[in-house]
Amino acid sequence: MKIAITGAGGMLGQDMVAAADEVHHEVAAYTRADLDVTDERAVFAAFERDLPALVINCAAYTDVDGAETDELNAFMINEDGARNVAAAAASIGARVIQISTDYVFDGTKREPYVESDPTGPIGVYGRSKLAGEIAVAEANPRHLIVRTSWLYGLGGKNFVETMLSLAAERSELLVVNDQIGCPTYTRQLADAVIEFADYQRLGIMHLCGGEACSWYDFAREIFRQSQVEVMVLSGTTEMLARPAPRPVYSAMVSEREDAPSLPRWDHGLHAYLVARAALHTQETEALDPNQELEPKETGQ
Ligand SMILES: NC(=O)c1ccc[n+]([C@@H]2O[C@H](COP(=O)([O-])OP(=O)(O)OC[C@H]3O[C@@H](n4cnc5c(N)ncnc54)[C@H](OP(=O)(O)O)[C@@H]3O)[C@@H](O)[C@H]2O)c1
Repeated sequence: MKIAITGAGGMLGQDMVAAADEVHHEVAAYTRADLDVTDERAVFAAFERDLPALVINCAAYTDVDGAETDELNAFMINEDGARNVAAAAASIGARVIQISTDYVFDGTKREPYVESDPTGPIGVYGRSKLAGEIAVAEANPRHLIVRTSWLYGLGGKNFVETMLSLAAERSELLVVNDQIGCPTYTRQLADAVIEFADYQRLGIMHLCGGEACSWYDFAREIFRQSQVEVMVLSGTTEMLARPAPRPVYSAMVSEREDAPSLPRWDHGLHAYLVARAALHTQETEALDPNQELEPKETGQ
């Protein structure tokens, strides 16, 4: 199937392209430099030229704190951009998968959010993403909105990398223990989305790592699995004041029978750390200046 992926240079976008390539879909991958989703004419022209059967929109304004003072841009990309992608897909008879977020919820629930729960974003980023969900649903009846959460992947800055680099500099780290969510490895999310790309799933679907934890639990597990010695201190959201409010509780599960389940968050982390180690080995080998100079094994 021909799949177009917008925001293909982002953390999830890169894994989405890799996942689609791996199972031999024909992929039209557009980074931001290739296609700005806020440019309506360019989006229509690109899809008319490439004629995908499915479009996956991974492009987004994702700076949660920045959005508080940059509302116009956040909405331009997350609402108008998402509408452009969905409408342009509709114009050529293509389906659209829009990636959305747990931040559409207010965080007051104390058991996992399901698709039918009322939304109520508490920050600009969440409001802009919810506006995007509504715009996509209006612009293309053949839409699937995939809400996910707490993403980390090889192709972008993420919590796991932040923790590992901070631990290299400090002996103690303070990590928030009163926000609960579901960490999700982008490659596992991408594989699941691509696996159901052929099926006509529509509506809203929650798709994130299994089980929930706090950022503090997540940090401790990162260090345990990486065998890094560092003292992790339990902090509160109040102690680490950030510009944007975040939902205190945003764990999600799906109430849909056709929703796949992703591995538990600590298993997802393990897969990420294995992929990360393999990538570092490849990079080190590629950088090794002596490699070319060493005599090759002849086997004789
Ligand atoms: N990260 C998370 O924890 C998380 C959690 C839940 C849901 N999500 C959702 O998951 C999706 C992917 O997020 P991510 O973590 O992969 O974020 P990301 O790494 O920031 O990727 C977003 C991509 O969109 C691109 N982009 C921004 N504005 C654009 C525009 N006008 N036209 C085309 N592309 C544009 C960005 O390019 P530049 O980098 O050049 O700006 C970037 O490559 C988003 O929908 C996000 O809302 C993320």
